[in-house]
Order: sequence, then C-alpha cells, then structure tokens
Amino acid sequence: MKVKDKEFSIFIDRAKILERVAALAKEINQDYEGKTPLFVAVLNGSFMFASDLMKGIEISAEISFIKLNSYNRTHSTGKVKELIGLDENIFGRHLIIIEDIVDTGLTIKHMLEELRELGPKSVEIATLLHKKEATKEPLSLRYVGFEIPKKFVIGYGLDYDGHARNLNDIYSLAN
Ligand code: IMP
Repeated sequence: MKVKDKEFSIFIDRAKILERVAALAKEINQDYEGKTPLFVAVLNGSFMFASDLMKGIEISAEISFIKLNSYNRTHSTGKVKELIGLDENIFGRHLIIIEDIVDTGLTIKHMLEELRELGPKSVEIATLLHKKEATKEPLSLRYVGFEIPKKFVIGYGLDYDGHARNLNDIYSLAN
C-alpha cells in the first residue's frame, strides 16, 4: 500500500491487535483492582490503542490525554517538547501512561521525569509497540503489546507525516 511517497506492507492485523490489547486490559484489571488508576494517554499516536484498551478496563479508572511529540517524519529527532494538557491533580495517584510506540525511549523518559515531579504514587507504562533494539534509555515497560524490530510502522494511530492514523491494521515500511 502506498502512503504519500512510500510503500508499506501489512505487519500486524486488526484481529491480532485487538486480541493482544484485550489481554493487556485483563492484566491491568488484575494488577489495579481497588486502586482507581489514572490512565494518561499520549496523543496523537495512542488514540486508537487507548480507546480499545479502555473498552477492556472493568475496574474503576479515569483517563486523561496529554500531548508531547518529538517525532519528525521517519526519524526520531531526539528533541522533546513540553507536556501539555494534564489538568488532573496527579499527586498520590496511580498513573498508567498509554503510548503508541517506544522507539529510542527519549519521549517516555522525558515524560516520566516531568510526571514524577508531580508526586504520583506510582507510574507504569503501557505501550502498544516497543522497538527494543532502538531503545537507548533504561526503561521499565510494564505492559507491552508487541516487541517489534527497528522498522518504521504506521496505522492504528501511528502516522507517516500525518497520514495513515486511520488504518485499522499496522503496516511497516517495505524494504
Ligand atoms: P522515541 O522518543 O524515540 O521513543 O519516539 C517515540 C515517538 O515517536 C512515538 O510516540 C511516536 O509518536 C513516534 N514514533 C516512533 N517510531 C515510530 C514509527 O515507527 N512510526 C510512527 N511513529 C513513530
């Protein structure tokens, strides 16, 4: 499939994604029973994952959305922008950050530093995808949907230059 100037091929289909996301929700339900966690979804990329994950959450919980984006076309720029949009008081709360993908890990590292200053009781990360080989930062990722190779992927919320977020499946750049 062509998106703008690049060719992509199917990588993880919708059924497989949904099955895995439901399994993660189940794990979270068990781990956070009685804790009322605050999910913090990182826009834009995590909107589909956050939506499907929350559909499987059966314990009492809240969700909020923030923005923090360091990505420029197909390469991570290493630059991080400010965290915007967190209105909730997170002091003493159990946070679960919802991310689309952890690549170098810089984005999540920066966000963790900012959030920890606000005094949450705990912070864990739920990421749909993890490019393990690309991650330079020492991070503990509690909930990971799929470990993937260092490939550029799109769809299910992930974009190429603003395009392809609407696709139901995940595609990777064809070599
Ligand atoms: P990191 O700071 O290098 O971990 O990059 C994380 C952010 O870069 C993600 O939240 C995405 O927005 C973006 N990103 C990383 N890899 C990809 C990819 O393969 N496709 C689309 N966006 C990506």
